[in-house]
Amino acid sequence: MTRIALITGATSGIGEQFARQLAASQICDELWMVGRNGGKLEVLKAELLPQRTAPVCADLCATDGMLLIESMLKEHKPVISLLINSAGLGFRDSVAGQSMEEISDTLNTNCNALTLMCRMCLPYMDGKSGIINIASSAGFIPQPGFAVYAASKSYVISFSRALAAELKERGIRVTCVCPGPVTTGFQYKATKGKTEGFTGIRAMTSKTPVEIAEISLKANSRGRRLISVGTSQKLLHLAAKILPHQWIINMIK
Ligand SMILES: NC(=O)c1ccc[n+]([C@@H]2O[C@H](COP(=O)([O-])OP(=O)(O)OC[C@H]3O[C@@H](n4cnc5c(N)ncnc54)[C@H](OP(=O)(O)O)[C@@H]3O)[C@@H](O)[C@H]2O)c1
Repeated sequence: MTRIALITGATSGIGEQFARQLAASQICDELWMVGRNGGKLEVLKAELLPQRTAPVCADLCATDGMLLIESMLKEHKPVISLLINSAGLGFRDSVAGQSMEEISDTLNTNCNALTLMCRMCLPYMDGKSGIINIASSAGFIPQPGFAVYAASKSYVISFSRALAAELKERGIRVTCVCPGPVTTGFQYKATKGKTEGFTGIRAMTSKTPVEIAEISLKANSRGRRLISVGTSQKLLHLAAKILPHQWIINMIK
């Protein structure tokens, strides 16, 4: 039986690093890499493991995209060793400043698609399988100016924790990863090209996608359910647990 790792958001940033690290490991026989950028998927396939890599060009916000992944699973009937939900986006703007489409894409990708991917993959998992859901430390507290994204990541945290408990009996490890700033193209897209990278404290505490992928894979293999990446994010997590959220909102506003 072919054991696969299925990665969403594999065309860039954290998801791409997962693909690179898994291609160099023995965790799975095949890598299924999901993204909308078909050209980038083909480049990665050629560079990584041409015989063991399946590019899946699919828009996770579109019914067709989800149906394509479902039909591939039904046809090949693999065992999914690892599902990594890394696809995600958000826009740094007020709710009123975002278009309906931007809000809809954020919620569809970050919440809807992630949930459906988990549901779709469960029948193909066994007691050695794992799920890694990439949330964000933004999900620890409400964030004015990034409200939709932060709320979507709160959903990912809540959903992943409950799913981990549901799947414990089956031996399936669910890890929710909460990074702070990571040096990928995310920030450029989130600010619609206004900012290339992070500044100030965010720049000082930022991590690389290589680090996030490494830490996440290790955490999942150890059965960790929730990880905040880096000291500053661990402190934020602690503050969100013990301080009134309104205080923190007033501080970051
Ligand atoms: N970078 C940070 O500072 C940071 C911090 C905390 C958490 N995160 C989270 O980390 C995850 C990865 O982000 P990143 O930093 O690696 O950003 P990124 O480089 O912008 O990657 C985002 C990925 O999501 C995919 N994607 C977006 N919409 C999609 C859709 N509708 N259908 C299929 N794929 C879609 C993109 O692929 P295509 O464009 O090819 O479709 C891309 O591969 C996200 O969930 C993000 O929220 C990031």
